[in-house]
Amino acid sequence: MFEYAPAPESRDIVDIRPSYGLFINGEWVEPQSEARHKTVNPATEEVLAEVAWAGEADVDRAVQAAAKAFPVWSAMPGAERAKYLFRIARLIQERARELAVLETLDNGKPIRESRDVDLPLVAAHFFYYAGWADKLAYAGFGPDPRPLGVAGQVIPWNFPLLMLAWKIAPALACGNTVVLKPAETTPLTALAFADICRQADLPPGVVNIVTGAGETGAALVNHPGVDKVAFTGSTEVGRLIARSLAGTRKKLTLELGGKAANIVFEDAPLDQAVEGVVNGIFFNQGHVCCAGSRLLVQESIAADLLEALKRRLGTMRLGDPLDKNTDIGAINSAEQLAKIRELSEAGEAEGAERWSPACPIPDRGYWFPPTVFTGVAQSHRIAREEIFGPVLSVLTFRTPAEAVEKANNTPYGLSAGVWTEKGSLMLWTASRLRAGVVWSNTFNRFDPTSPFGGYKESGYGREGGRHGLEGYLAL
Ligand code: NAI
Ligand code: MG
Repeated sequence: MFEYAPAPESRDIVDIRPSYGLFINGEWVEPQSEARHKTVNPATEEVLAEVAWAGEADVDRAVQAAAKAFPVWSAMPGAERAKYLFRIARLIQERARELAVLETLDNGKPIRESRDVDLPLVAAHFFYYAGWADKLAYAGFGPDPRPLGVAGQVIPWNFPLLMLAWKIAPALACGNTVVLKPAETTPLTALAFADICRQADLPPGVVNIVTGAGETGAALVNHPGVDKVAFTGSTEVGRLIARSLAGTRKKLTLELGGKAANIVFEDAPLDQAVEGVVNGIFFNQGHVCCAGSRLLVQESIAADLLEALKRRLGTMRLGDPLDKNTDIGAINSAEQLAKIRELSEAGEAEGAERWSPACPIPDRGYWFPPTVFTGVAQSHRIAREEIFGPVLSVLTFRTPAEAVEKANNTPYGLSAGVWTEKGSLMLWTASRLRAGVVWSNTFNRFDPTSPFGGYKESGYGREGGRHGLEGYLAL
């Protein structure tokens, strides 16, 4: 056995202010609301900074700033808007290390992931949509597609800066202006992005960032000056928003939960499939809307696959997210940890068998070991509800038809995975899965050119690719 020496990334590279105001009209402003909130490092429970919780008057001020900036920004030739977006993309690349450390501190995800996945994708999204800004007339939406106006955008805590990029890059490329509300537990990279907008000399009011919790989000999406709402988060809140926007002129896109099936057929290369299953559910502690949280494995290979999976999980390293060797970081919040615990206990109570590798848990912070449930029935809560944590539910099947039926037996439909060596079986299966994204012999692969979005209770509208422009244009 080799021992790992600690390989911590330095946190000195980030400069966190003790307290933050709101970013409105290109400036830091003090909120009218006196409510403030401390954001903590979930790996240590250390307070990182205090942020404002914007009230209705603050949200109104931000929407007014965005509305005032809209005529200027939307009238600018696309090639000019593109210059700003390219500049932002390059600044993100230049500051990638700093932003990755900041993301890891505020979110708890391993530095290896924020450095190698989140940040490269954030920059790639801005580069990609910068390229569309002067080509909108050729995007297939008519010769002169027009922007909508002010976009109110609400994002979750699992990929804070990446979700910001998914929302802001296409909105700006199309000529809209933006008010964005980051999640309450992970505001810091959005606030750093505000500084990047200033560095890029973005005209004031084009991007506004208001921090706060659900009430701030509700004030934003319900503001009459907002023309488009884009939301990523829970199905529960997505439903609330859809209800309150029904009958208004606002255009809405929703990216909600998931309960993806990762289907492994008996002819799949076993070791490769195990890596895919691990990446599918333990990437980002399973805080992934498209996580492969239901493993559907063909009965003939179930025992072998589970043995290999358990062996592999025994090598996973849980702990300090800033350590470059860490595979599994901290759970983002005490609330999320409580939810994962509650659902895991329900799994045991309903009769599934629970397993975790021997795994030391740090004394402070929010942690949950990688967990596998076998003997799971389709009716169990752990097979139906989004756990949003490092918990895998294993079910078996005998025939491809049974695999498809079980995979589709969910109110969600965001993603799925298919592992097989046979191209014909892969295509047969993929064409029958009711999921927005189907990966084959890989999982959790993202690219700005590829549209992403759901069926059924996973939401509607697409983000990414040419399709992602549609939500930000008046068609
Ligand atoms: P959430 O849906 O409450 O929060 C997402 C964002 O919406 C946050 O910025 C929040 O402040 C905002 N928000 C909350 N209530 C709002 C309202 N009434 N109007 C407008 N904005 C509002 O998600 P939460 O509570 O953080 O997580 C609960 C569960 O939701 C998780 O356990 C997970 O299962 C699921 N979830 C799914 C995500 C996904 O990407 N599909 C992301 C985050 C959570
Ligand atoms: Mg909530």
